[in-house]
Amino acid sequence: MKKINSYEEYLSNYEKSIEDPTVFWSDIAKTFHWHKQWDNVLEWNFDEPSINWFKGAKLNITENCLDRHLDSNADKTAIIWEPNDPKESAQHISYEELHQRVGIAAQMLKNNGVNKGDRVCLYMPMIPELAIAVLACARIGAIHSVIFAGFSAKALSDRVNDATAKVLLTADYGVRATKKIPLKEIADNALESCATIEKVIVFKRLDGSVNMKADRDFWWEDEILKVNGVSAKVESMDAEDELFILYTSGSTGQPKGVVHSTAGYMVYAEYSFRNVFQYNDKDIYWCTADIGWITGHSYIIYGPLLAGATTLMFEGVPTWPNPGRFWEVVDKYQVSLFYTAPTAIRALQACDLSFVDKHNLSSLRVLGSVGEPINEEAWKWYHINIGKGNCPIVDTWWQTETGGIMIAPLAGITPLKPAFATLPLPGIQPCLVDADGNEIEGNDVEGNLCVKFPWPSMLRTTWGDHDRCKLTYFSTYKDKYFTGDGCKRDEDGFYRITGRVDDVMNISGHRIGTAEVECAINTHETVVESAVVGYPHDIKGQGIYAYVICTVFDDESLMKKEIIQQIIKEIGPIAKPDKIQIVSGLPKTRSGKIMRRILRKVAEGDTSNLGDTSTLLDPSVVEEIKIGAIK
Ligand code: WT7
Repeated sequence: MKKINSYEEYLSNYEKSIEDPTVFWSDIAKTFHWHKQWDNVLEWNFDEPSINWFKGAKLNITENCLDRHLDSNADKTAIIWEPNDPKESAQHISYEELHQRVGIAAQMLKNNGVNKGDRVCLYMPMIPELAIAVLACARIGAIHSVIFAGFSAKALSDRVNDATAKVLLTADYGVRATKKIPLKEIADNALESCATIEKVIVFKRLDGSVNMKADRDFWWEDEILKVNGVSAKVESMDAEDELFILYTSGSTGQPKGVVHSTAGYMVYAEYSFRNVFQYNDKDIYWCTADIGWITGHSYIIYGPLLAGATTLMFEGVPTWPNPGRFWEVVDKYQVSLFYTAPTAIRALQACDLSFVDKHNLSSLRVLGSVGEPINEEAWKWYHINIGKGNCPIVDTWWQTETGGIMIAPLAGITPLKPAFATLPLPGIQPCLVDADGNEIEGNDVEGNLCVKFPWPSMLRTTWGDHDRCKLTYFSTYKDKYFTGDGCKRDEDGFYRITGRVDDVMNISGHRIGTAEVECAINTHETVVESAVVGYPHDIKGQGIYAYVICTVFDDESLMKKEIIQQIIKEIGPIAKPDKIQIVSGLPKTRSGKIMRRILRKVAEGDTSNLGDTSTLLDPSVVEEIKIGAIK
């Protein structure tokens, strides 16, 4: 399929996409396989919000990911799977084989009572069966909800219950570096409080040494055999039928289920993948994200498969058996397009350069970055040591809610600027607004980042709570989608995202709400109250700093350990605080609002100017907090 191939073409495409979005997107949509064409390209209003792309059309996204490529590319590798342990065998799955395995897995779901519109939760390791399960759901119109396999039992059960899911797919264990993660055991704990789950299908990643509950739990391998090689019938979906739910953190304790629908998501995932990475059919593409996050959905599974690409799935971690693992894998498969997170880059940057220099890396053509602002040093290290100065870096800004990349360079086509996400993709209309919601025009300005026109892969609702969607994203500023990010537009009109302006942290590229961590801490019986803030962290981008008020305790370090355990239990290890300070009070205004500004300053190690503290209920707590601050 055609890519934008010059800066002039980008500019003219952009202009066309703004002036005539309907014609622009229908031209792109025509390249896909539809059962029925749409009646209307776009119907929308941001008040409700109500967003309809390609209304009236019928399709199945997996036919576009799989069947469509079989005539010319049946033997092409769709998925390369690289295991955690380099001594274990890798897998190469062709488009033909993937097509077949998805069809059979889809029938397995049908045999287990899954129908169109049912929710299926996936709590699985990074193995090909996870991608297959995602596609199998989509094949029969079931709504998938992938839950990151690092989440705790409590986090898992909350998500299963919110989605009222019918079936859970999991594995006996997951493996990461030298750790064995007891996924089935965690799932069992979670399911004690999940009434809607009827069946659990368990893939045997290791030895299968887990408890199986009669009539509820079944082995994936057995269930597949029962299908007898018969593929499920493809479900014909409406353009706006829900494709998946993905839970993400916001400014309350309760994660929200971001809902994406079928046709618009498909069109934009493919379009953005092809153009940002400037994909060509000889490329070997590797995104190091986990499928438990949106990056894995859009740019390990859907985008690349829609484009007919070879996508690499990696089960392991960047630093095991040694910090050269990424680069060894790049050489092993001659990866040409490589997409990772700034936190991984910084972690590897901190290791000896010999781990990079042992490897050739000449296959690389484009490097990508996602998840948080990439700082200039990391950008340069990536550019020089990994890209050898020859590979454009696409710093891609987007969100779970946007479904696809919104602001980013098109590799080798549009200009680069270190630490800038640069320019919007065609069809994307970003704008900056001031505190009163007025749009800030012109260049060399700063404000809150909004989007003022719909794009095909935007979220449609938050599962089970449309008001929350409206309130969070469409009510702060009238007629605009609000991203929650602050942003600069420089003198050349280039965008630089400066970070969240709400109570959401970005820890190693993972979004975690401060309220969520506070709720977890507060469940500890000796905790009275807590306040959590993010602070700059060299490797993780942001670290978590928790201020906690406790009733009696004997041993402070034991108390802190218990708090950490509580968070691991409630959310998972990703939300572990880096610093915990036990305090006797929190800085509050007379109306009882916690002054987070002060707590952020202390966490940053900057206590010289805490601003006006005279409005505080009890200014003396600030002195105590300053003295006890954790360095
Ligand atoms: C938040 C979204 C998009 C997939 C991964 C995270 C931050 C993301 C960038 C970037 C600066 C970025 C934003 C955004 N973010 N990419 N290239 N430059 N900031 O998805 O968990 O939905 O988080 O990540 O703050 O709002 P997410």
